[in-house]
Amino acid sequence: MKKKLTVSAIKKRKNNKKISMITAYDSLFAKIFDESDIDIILVGDSLNMSFRGEIDTLSASMEVMIYHTKAVCNGAKNSFIIADMPFGSTINKEIALTNAMRFYSETSADSVKIEGGIERAEIIKYLVENGIAVCGHIGLMPQNVRGDGGYFVKGRDDISREKLINDAKAIEQAGAFAIVLEGVLETVAREIRDSVAIPVIGIGAGRDVDGQVLVWSDMLGFFQAFKPKFVKEYLNGAELVKNSVKKYIDEVANGEFPARDNIY
Ligand code: KIV
Repeated sequence: MKKKLTVSAIKKRKNNKKISMITAYDSLFAKIFDESDIDIILVGDSLNMSFRGEIDTLSASMEVMIYHTKAVCNGAKNSFIIADMPFGSTINKEIALTNAMRFYSETSADSVKIEGGIERAEIIKYLVENGIAVCGHIGLMPQNVRGDGGYFVKGRDDISREKLINDAKAIEQAGAFAIVLEGVLETVAREIRDSVAIPVIGIGAGRDVDGQVLVWSDMLGFFQAFKPKFVKEYLNGAELVKNSVKKYIDEVANGEFPARDNIY
């Protein structure tokens, strides 16, 4: 089956039709998102919190990310798939290339995503030179949560604003085909979008970017631990599931299930 988008098609969406991206961690939901015509599916290391119940993304290993990426690739045959490189998997260019190549050889992911700005530019360049398509990720970087002491919006002062613009330019020069921009003031996100010729895909970065990405369990109302301001809940998933399971429990108790239709 032909992929809906390619790297060059994604680049052409700059200042054009907005890009829609959603995370997925398993085959079942990946298939549903794929059939909904989503442009890009990100196998984000956010799965460590949402799917595995850990407090942050840092303990997601390459094994875990490969396992989930395989599952997503089995479910989504049309959407462009990006696999997140987990914490510690890009500490130098040789290690980063070995790990990125695992995504290519052990799964059918179309690209990888790397958190980091100027400090990761050399690594991104090396991967791109070796045939790996790389999406950058700057702004609020969840893999820095312990060093930063929490999740904080970026671009609030001139130093932070300038750093973000320089990060975006460095990643573009290194050969990334797109940038995920997380947790940044809308005015600064707009400047970043205008500073580079590759698409900037925002999450908590306001309206003036080339596309949006949301974590599936946030936007469908399944993740209940906390709800960031930038999330829009398109479904009250947890409530719907709880109500259905309660109904099932009642029907098992009162003998309504299984009904005549459900027996051999
Ligand atoms: O891991 C993830 O889901 C991400 C998104 C928040 C962009 O990186």
